Amino acid sequence: MSQTQTRTQEILARDAEHHTGLWHPDIVFTHGDGVKLYDAEGNAYLDCMAGIAVASVGHGNKRLARALAEQAEKLIIVSQAHGNDTRVRFYEKLFAALPESLGLTRVFMANSGSEVNEAALKWARVATGRGGFVAAKRGFSGRTLGVLGLTWEPKYREPFEPLPYETTFIGFNNIGELDAAITEETAAVFLEPVQGEGGMHPADPAFLEAARALTRERGALLIMDEVQSGVGRTGKFLASEHFGVAPDMVTLAKGLGGGVPIGALLMTDEVAAKMPAGGHGTTFGGNALASAAAVAVLEEFEARNLVQNAAEVGAYFQERLRALNAPQIRSVRGMGLMIGVEFRGKVAPIVAGLRDARVLVINAGATVIRFVPPLIITKGEVDEVVRRLGVVLERNKPS
Ligand SMILES: Cc1ncc(COP(=O)(O)O)c(C=O)c1O
Repeated sequence: MSQTQTRTQEILARDAEHHTGLWHPDIVFTHGDGVKLYDAEGNAYLDCMAGIAVASVGHGNKRLARALAEQAEKLIIVSQAHGNDTRVRFYEKLFAALPESLGLTRVFMANSGSEVNEAALKWARVATGRGGFVAAKRGFSGRTLGVLGLTWEPKYREPFEPLPYETTFIGFNNIGELDAAITEETAAVFLEPVQGEGGMHPADPAFLEAARALTRERGALLIMDEVQSGVGRTGKFLASEHFGVAPDMVTLAKGLGGGVPIGALLMTDEVAAKMPAGGHGTTFGGNALASAAAVAVLEEFEARNLVQNAAEVGAYFQERLRALNAPQIRSVRGMGLMIGVEFRGKVAPIVAGLRDARVLVINAGATVIRFVPPLIITKGEVDEVVRRLGVVLERNKPS
């Protein structure tokens, strides 16, 4: 290492020796505290990205850290074929957080969003005896080969075709196309109640109601991908609750372990019963360490009323963003702390400007900035984020 290299440069040079080139990081984060992240030079950033809607209880959360340490000393894993006290505590806490009216009573545990979506595809096929899937344009359900079939963006799909099955893609919120797409071959309709990666678009209630009615009428299943929108982010535990629609399956991941890898596929008794014993599984699914993390996250939700916080602070955040009245902003939309700001032009310079102003955000497509902070964010922190955004917008004003 040369004398003049910063710590950031030194770490990035070591990183570049081994990474695959999928990303070219130019910043290094070393620790965090609540909504703040610190880079290798000691600068503090307000984190409105949260590892892409993951760090639900903030960084450096004491309850989560303690739970992990205690569980690690006791037991990290037993096979899913064996019972475990911490896993059962997780099941009980998870189902206590869900409204009974949804009728979701069973859970399969895995380690990521893609993995639980893959599991949902298998359950849908075995439960219906059918092979086809219907998904929405601009939808994103992951990038493993199986769920890539549900992910719409051509740049993610095309280099890897042929995919294992054909999907009928319909316009999001287009009831006519949905109606035409569901046939006797359809195993399931797979939808995000609020599209994340595709631009932060909430569904129209009538569209989800139609999806429920038509799938029921034609013997197909309705699966909600709540990998991003679930676990309190939209101001209800599941975004599906806003719409009063009871899906046959729901997938969760991102926020559930507060950053510890975990995924959960929720389903009804009826769907669960269709999978033969041993028909699916994964080595790490339901491990005690991830279960302990999720228990701690759910306890933190209760102790700090985080679902309510997401609703209240999320509404305040949207209000403050609209009040900027910036000429570059076309619209502000979203639910709770799942917020998208649509710009009239490309957002890359604004995302970069915000980073210079020490606010971390991510885009959702070329013209939308996503704000998906930890659910613990306060109104005071929102004020500071919006103030910095105002400065960046002023600097980037069209001439
Ligand atoms: C709605 C949705 N589904 C699935 C996934 C894939 O999850 P993972 O990256 O954990 O595999 C994502 C990730 O961004 C997502 O937003």
